[in-house]
Amino acid sequence: MFKKILAAVVTLALALPLSAQAAPIIIKFSHVVANDTPKGQAANYFKKLAEERTKGRVKVEVYPNSQLFKDKEEMEALQMGSVQMLAPSLAKFAPLGLKEFEVFDLPFIFDDYSELHKVTQGPVGAKLLKKLETKGLIGLAYWDNGFKVMSANKPLKNVTDMRGLKMRIQSSKVLDSQMRSVGAIPQVLAFSEVYQALQTGVVDGTENPPSNLYTQKMHEVQKYVTMSNHGYLGYAVLVNKKFWMGLPADIRAALESSMKDATVFANSVAKKDNDEAMAGVKKSGKSQIITLTPAERAAWKKAMDKTHKENMGRIGADIVKEVYAATG
Ligand code: LMR
Repeated sequence: MFKKILAAVVTLALALPLSAQAAPIIIKFSHVVANDTPKGQAANYFKKLAEERTKGRVKVEVYPNSQLFKDKEEMEALQMGSVQMLAPSLAKFAPLGLKEFEVFDLPFIFDDYSELHKVTQGPVGAKLLKKLETKGLIGLAYWDNGFKVMSANKPLKNVTDMRGLKMRIQSSKVLDSQMRSVGAIPQVLAFSEVYQALQTGVVDGTENPPSNLYTQKMHEVQKYVTMSNHGYLGYAVLVNKKFWMGLPADIRAALESSMKDATVFANSVAKKDNDEAMAGVKKSGKSQIITLTPAERAAWKKAMDKTHKENMGRIGADIVKEVYAATG
Protein backbone atom coordinates (compact mmCIF):
# COMPACT_ATOMS: atom_id res chain seq x y z
CA MET A 1 0.00 0.00 0.00
CA PHE A 2 2.75 2.44 1.04
CA LYS A 3 4.66 1.69 -2.16
CA LYS A 4 1.54 2.38 -4.21
CA ILE A 5 1.02 5.75 -2.52
CA LEU A 6 4.67 6.64 -3.00
CA ALA A 7 4.49 5.72 -6.68
CA ALA A 8 1.36 7.83 -7.10
CA VAL A 9 3.02 10.82 -5.42
CA VAL A 10 6.11 10.50 -7.62
CA THR A 11 3.97 10.19 -10.77
CA LEU A 12 2.00 13.26 -9.77
CA ALA A 13 5.15 15.28 -9.05
CA LEU A 14 6.62 14.36 -12.41
CA ALA A 15 3.42 15.37 -14.15
CA LEU A 16 3.44 18.83 -12.57
CA PRO A 17 5.08 21.62 -14.51
CA LEU A 18 8.46 22.61 -13.13
CA SER A 19 7.07 25.95 -12.02
CA ALA A 20 4.64 24.23 -9.66
CA GLN A 21 7.37 22.11 -8.08
CA ALA A 22 10.14 24.51 -7.24
CA ALA A 23 9.83 27.80 -5.43
CA PRO A 24 10.31 30.59 -7.96
CA ILE A 25 13.50 32.62 -8.09
CA ILE A 26 12.68 36.04 -6.65
CA ILE A 27 14.09 39.20 -8.18
CA LYS A 28 13.49 42.20 -5.96
CA PHE A 29 13.64 45.31 -8.16
CA SER A 30 13.72 48.44 -6.06
CA HIS A 31 13.46 51.99 -7.35
CA VAL A 32 12.71 55.47 -6.07
CA VAL A 33 10.28 56.92 -8.61
CA ALA A 34 6.56 56.56 -9.30
CA ASN A 35 5.06 53.78 -11.43
CA ASP A 36 3.94 56.20 -14.12
CA THR A 37 7.42 57.41 -15.02
CA PRO A 38 9.67 56.00 -17.77
CA LYS A 39 11.62 53.92 -15.22
CA GLY A 40 8.51 52.79 -13.33
CA GLN A 41 6.76 51.65 -16.50
CA ALA A 42 9.86 49.89 -17.82
CA ALA A 43 10.38 48.03 -14.53
CA ASN A 44 6.79 46.78 -14.64
CA TYR A 45 7.14 45.80 -18.29
CA PHE A 46 10.34 43.87 -17.52
CA LYS A 47 8.45 42.05 -14.73
CA LYS A 48 5.69 41.05 -17.15
CA LEU A 49 8.08 39.77 -19.82
CA ALA A 50 10.40 38.03 -17.37
CA GLU A 51 7.58 36.14 -15.65
CA GLU A 52 6.01 35.14 -18.97
CA ARG A 53 9.25 34.03 -20.58
CA THR A 54 10.43 32.02 -17.60
CA LYS A 55 6.94 30.49 -17.27
CA GLY A 56 6.72 31.52 -13.66
CA ARG A 57 10.13 30.18 -12.62
CA VAL A 58 11.10 33.79 -11.88
CA LYS A 59 9.00 36.21 -9.91
CA VAL A 60 9.93 39.89 -10.17
CA GLU A 61 8.81 41.99 -7.22
CA VAL A 62 8.92 45.68 -8.15
CA TYR A 63 9.09 48.13 -5.24
CA PRO A 64 8.55 51.70 -6.53
CA ASN A 65 8.64 55.07 -4.73
CA SER A 66 11.52 54.30 -2.32
CA GLN A 67 9.16 51.81 -0.61
CA LEU A 68 11.99 49.40 0.09
CA PHE A 69 15.16 51.50 -0.04
CA LYS A 70 16.12 55.14 -0.54
CA ASP A 71 18.86 56.28 -2.96
CA LYS A 72 21.98 55.53 -0.99
CA GLU A 73 20.67 52.46 0.77
CA GLU A 74 19.62 50.76 -2.45
CA MET A 75 23.18 50.59 -3.80
CA GLU A 76 24.40 49.00 -0.58
CA ALA A 77 21.45 46.61 -0.62
CA LEU A 78 22.33 45.49 -4.14
CA GLN A 79 25.95 44.83 -3.28
CA MET A 80 24.88 42.88 -0.20
CA GLY A 81 22.29 40.92 -2.16
CA SER A 82 19.19 42.16 -0.28
CA VAL A 83 17.83 43.28 -3.66
CA GLN A 84 18.75 41.78 -7.00
CA MET A 85 17.99 44.59 -9.46
CA LEU A 86 18.04 48.39 -9.48
CA ALA A 87 18.01 51.17 -12.04
CA PRO A 88 19.69 54.09 -10.29
CA SER A 89 20.31 57.43 -11.92
CA LEU A 90 23.76 57.67 -13.49
CA ALA A 91 24.38 60.59 -11.12
CA LYS A 92 24.48 58.19 -8.16
CA PHE A 93 27.42 55.96 -9.04
CA ALA A 94 30.30 57.83 -7.40
CA PRO A 95 29.73 56.24 -3.97
CA LEU A 96 30.50 52.92 -5.71
CA GLY A 97 33.87 54.39 -6.68
CA LEU A 98 32.78 54.94 -10.29
CA LYS A 99 33.05 58.69 -10.83
CA GLU A 100 33.23 58.16 -14.61
CA PHE A 101 29.45 57.92 -14.80
CA GLU A 102 29.21 61.58 -13.78
CA VAL A 103 30.13 62.39 -17.40
CA PHE A 104 26.37 62.11 -18.04
CA ASP A 105 25.79 64.98 -15.58
CA LEU A 106 27.94 67.51 -17.42
CA PRO A 107 25.64 70.39 -18.38
CA PHE A 108 24.72 70.68 -22.06
CA ILE A 109 26.79 67.61 -23.00
CA PHE A 110 23.95 66.13 -25.09
CA ASP A 111 21.81 68.25 -27.39
CA ASP A 112 19.09 65.63 -27.67
CA TYR A 113 18.26 61.93 -27.31
CA SER A 114 19.97 61.04 -30.56
CA GLU A 115 23.30 62.38 -29.25
CA LEU A 116 22.75 60.61 -25.95
CA HIS A 117 22.12 57.28 -27.73
CA LYS A 118 25.44 57.56 -29.54
CA VAL A 119 26.96 57.09 -26.09
CA THR A 120 24.50 54.80 -24.32
CA GLN A 121 24.08 52.53 -27.34
CA GLY A 122 27.70 52.68 -28.47
CA PRO A 123 31.16 51.54 -27.35
CA VAL A 124 31.65 54.27 -24.73
CA GLY A 125 28.47 53.25 -22.94
CA ALA A 126 29.48 49.58 -23.06
CA LYS A 127 32.93 50.40 -21.70
CA LEU A 128 31.39 52.24 -18.75
CA LEU A 129 29.01 49.38 -17.94
CA LYS A 130 31.95 46.95 -17.96
CA LYS A 131 33.53 48.91 -15.09
CA LEU A 132 30.64 47.87 -12.83
CA GLU A 133 31.95 44.32 -12.77
CA THR A 134 34.88 45.39 -10.61
CA LYS A 135 32.27 46.31 -7.98
CA GLY A 136 30.47 42.97 -7.99
CA LEU A 137 27.73 44.29 -10.27
CA ILE A 138 26.64 43.85 -13.88
CA GLY A 139 25.19 46.70 -15.92
CA LEU A 140 22.51 45.22 -18.17
CA ALA A 141 21.24 48.29 -20.00
CA TYR A 142 20.79 52.03 -20.09
CA TRP A 143 17.25 53.30 -19.65
CA ASP A 144 16.41 56.84 -20.73
CA ASN A 145 14.61 59.42 -18.71
CA GLY A 146 15.15 62.90 -20.07
CA PHE A 147 16.41 66.44 -20.05
CA LYS A 148 16.08 68.45 -16.87
CA VAL A 149 14.02 71.52 -16.11
CA MET A 150 14.94 73.94 -13.31
CA SER A 151 12.29 74.96 -10.79
CA ALA A 152 12.01 77.54 -8.00
CA ASN A 153 9.59 79.98 -6.42
CA LYS A 154 10.99 82.83 -8.46
CA PRO A 155 11.28 83.02 -12.23
CA LEU A 156 14.60 81.64 -13.48
CA LYS A 157 15.23 83.31 -16.80
CA ASN A 158 18.69 84.75 -16.58
CA VAL A 159 21.60 82.86 -15.09
CA THR A 160 21.89 85.54 -12.43
CA ASP A 161 18.45 84.52 -11.12
CA MET A 162 20.09 81.39 -9.73
CA ARG A 163 22.37 83.35 -7.40
CA GLY A 164 22.07 82.41 -3.75
CA LEU A 165 19.30 79.83 -4.30
CA LYS A 166 19.53 76.60 -2.34
CA MET A 167 19.07 73.91 -4.96
CA ARG A 168 18.47 70.21 -4.31
CA ILE A 169 20.74 67.96 -6.36
CA GLN A 170 21.44 64.25 -6.65
CA SER A 171 24.66 63.05 -5.04
CA SER A 172 26.98 64.01 -7.91
CA LYS A 173 29.98 66.31 -7.60
CA VAL A 174 29.46 67.40 -11.21
CA LEU A 175 25.97 68.60 -10.35
CA ASP A 176 27.44 70.33 -7.31
CA SER A 177 29.83 72.31 -9.50
CA GLN A 178 27.16 72.94 -12.12
CA MET A 179 25.01 74.69 -9.44
CA ARG A 180 27.99 76.60 -8.07
CA SER A 181 28.90 77.76 -11.58
CA VAL A 182 25.73 79.88 -11.57
CA GLY A 183 26.05 81.02 -7.96
CA ALA A 184 23.52 78.60 -6.46
CA ILE A 185 24.07 76.60 -3.28
CA PRO A 186 23.71 72.86 -3.99
CA GLN A 187 22.27 70.53 -1.40
CA VAL A 188 22.24 66.74 -1.78
CA LEU A 189 18.96 65.12 -0.73
CA ALA A 190 17.48 61.69 -1.34
CA PHE A 191 14.78 61.73 -4.00
CA SER A 192 12.14 60.69 -1.47
CA GLU A 193 12.81 63.84 0.56
CA VAL A 194 12.59 66.41 -2.23
CA TYR A 195 8.89 67.23 -2.17
CA GLN A 196 8.89 67.94 1.55
CA ALA A 197 12.12 69.91 1.38
CA LEU A 198 10.60 72.13 -1.30
CA GLN A 199 7.33 72.46 0.56
CA THR A 200 8.93 73.47 3.82
CA GLY A 201 11.55 75.71 2.25
CA VAL A 202 14.54 73.59 3.29
CA VAL A 203 15.60 74.14 -0.33
CA ASP A 204 14.43 76.82 -2.76
CA GLY A 205 14.42 74.82 -5.95
CA THR A 206 15.55 71.77 -7.85
CA GLU A 207 16.23 70.19 -11.23
CA ASN A 208 14.70 67.02 -12.68
CA PRO A 209 13.13 65.77 -15.88
CA PRO A 210 9.43 66.76 -16.05
CA SER A 211 8.26 63.16 -15.44
CA ASN A 212 9.85 63.17 -11.99
CA LEU A 213 8.77 66.74 -11.19
CA TYR A 214 5.16 66.02 -12.14
CA THR A 215 4.69 62.57 -10.58
CA GLN A 216 6.17 63.79 -7.28
CA LYS A 217 3.92 66.88 -7.44
CA MET A 218 6.94 69.14 -7.07
CA HIS A 219 5.23 71.64 -9.39
CA GLU A 220 2.57 72.11 -6.71
CA VAL A 221 5.21 73.58 -4.40
CA GLN A 222 7.27 75.43 -7.04
CA LYS A 223 5.83 78.55 -8.62
CA TYR A 224 8.06 78.53 -11.72
CA VAL A 225 9.48 75.86 -13.98
CA THR A 226 12.12 76.83 -16.55
CA MET A 227 12.45 74.57 -19.58
CA SER A 228 16.21 74.85 -19.58
CA ASN A 229 16.99 71.30 -20.77
CA HIS A 230 20.44 72.01 -19.37
CA GLY A 231 21.38 68.46 -18.50
CA TYR A 232 20.41 64.84 -18.78
CA LEU A 233 19.10 62.33 -16.22
CA GLY A 234 18.93 58.62 -17.03
CA TYR A 235 19.65 55.18 -15.63
CA ALA A 236 21.66 52.00 -15.81
CA VAL A 237 19.96 48.75 -14.85
CA LEU A 238 22.17 46.89 -12.40
CA VAL A 239 22.19 43.37 -11.04
CA ASN A 240 24.28 41.68 -8.41
CA LYS A 241 26.92 39.76 -10.39
CA LYS A 242 27.04 36.72 -8.11
CA PHE A 243 23.27 36.36 -8.26
CA TRP A 244 23.12 36.84 -12.03
CA MET A 245 25.94 34.44 -12.88
CA GLY A 246 24.48 31.87 -10.48
CA LEU A 247 21.19 31.67 -12.41
CA PRO A 248 20.51 28.64 -14.63
CA ALA A 249 21.65 29.52 -18.17
CA ASP A 250 18.17 29.21 -19.72
CA ILE A 251 16.67 31.49 -17.07
CA ARG A 252 19.43 34.06 -17.56
CA ALA A 253 18.86 33.98 -21.32
CA ALA A 254 15.11 34.56 -20.86
CA LEU A 255 15.81 37.45 -18.50
CA GLU A 256 18.34 38.96 -20.90
CA SER A 257 15.84 38.88 -23.74
CA SER A 258 13.19 40.41 -21.44
CA MET A 259 15.65 43.16 -20.49
CA LYS A 260 16.44 43.82 -24.14
CA ASP A 261 12.77 44.34 -24.95
CA ALA A 262 12.07 46.31 -21.76
CA THR A 263 14.94 48.62 -22.75
CA VAL A 264 13.49 49.26 -26.20
CA PHE A 265 10.19 50.00 -24.45
CA ALA A 266 11.79 52.29 -21.83
CA ASN A 267 13.61 54.30 -24.44
CA SER A 268 10.56 54.61 -26.64
CA VAL A 269 8.30 56.02 -23.90
CA ALA A 270 10.74 58.38 -22.17
CA LYS A 271 10.34 61.42 -24.40
CA LYS A 272 6.57 61.04 -24.64
CA ASP A 273 6.24 60.66 -20.85
CA ASN A 274 8.26 63.81 -20.27
CA ASP A 275 6.29 65.78 -22.87
CA GLU A 276 3.03 64.62 -21.29
CA ALA A 277 4.30 65.48 -17.81
CA MET A 278 5.15 69.00 -18.97
CA ALA A 279 1.64 69.30 -20.46
CA GLY A 280 0.30 68.14 -17.08
CA VAL A 281 2.27 70.82 -15.24
CA LYS A 282 0.91 73.43 -17.62
CA LYS A 283 -2.67 72.19 -17.28
CA SER A 284 -2.47 72.16 -13.48
CA GLY A 285 -1.92 75.91 -13.48
CA LYS A 286 0.14 75.47 -10.29
CA SER A 287 3.39 76.72 -11.78
CA GLN A 288 4.22 79.08 -14.53
CA ILE A 289 6.32 77.62 -17.32
CA ILE A 290 9.24 79.66 -18.58
CA THR A 291 10.71 79.06 -22.02
CA LEU A 292 14.16 80.44 -22.70
CA THR A 293 15.03 82.26 -25.90
CA PRO A 294 18.04 80.78 -27.74
CA ALA A 295 20.14 83.72 -26.50
CA GLU A 296 19.07 83.17 -22.86
CA ARG A 297 19.79 79.45 -23.10
CA ALA A 298 23.17 80.17 -24.65
CA ALA A 299 23.97 82.35 -21.63
CA TRP A 300 23.16 79.43 -19.27
CA LYS A 301 25.38 77.17 -21.35
CA LYS A 302 28.23 79.67 -21.27
CA ALA A 303 27.99 80.11 -17.50
CA MET A 304 27.90 76.37 -16.83
CA ASP A 305 30.65 75.55 -19.29
CA LYS A 306 33.41 75.67 -16.70
CA THR A 307 31.86 72.62 -15.03
CA HIS A 308 33.40 70.53 -17.82
CA LYS A 309 36.98 71.68 -17.21
CA GLU A 310 36.62 71.59 -13.44
CA ASN A 311 35.56 67.94 -13.51
CA MET A 312 37.81 66.60 -16.24
CA GLY A 313 40.21 65.12 -13.69
CA ARG A 314 37.45 63.68 -11.52
CA ILE A 315 35.59 61.94 -14.34
CA GLY A 316 38.68 61.11 -16.37
CA ALA A 317 39.73 63.18 -19.40
CA ASP A 318 39.71 60.08 -21.63
CA ILE A 319 36.03 59.35 -20.95
CA VAL A 320 34.98 62.97 -21.36
CA LYS A 321 36.83 63.20 -24.66
CA GLU A 322 35.37 59.90 -25.86
CA VAL A 323 31.88 61.25 -25.13
CA TYR A 324 32.68 64.51 -26.98
CA ALA A 325 33.94 62.48 -29.94
CA ALA A 326 30.90 60.18 -29.97
CA THR A 327 28.43 63.05 -29.90
CA GLY A 328 30.34 65.04 -32.52
C1 LMR B 1 16.64 61.99 -8.44
O1 LMR B 1 17.12 61.65 -7.35
O2 LMR B 1 16.26 63.13 -8.66
C2 LMR B 1 16.48 60.96 -9.53
O3 LMR B 1 17.66 60.25 -9.61
C3 LMR B 1 15.35 60.03 -9.27
C4 LMR B 1 15.25 58.99 -10.33
O4 LMR B 1 15.56 57.84 -10.06
O5 LMR B 1 14.85 59.37 -11.45
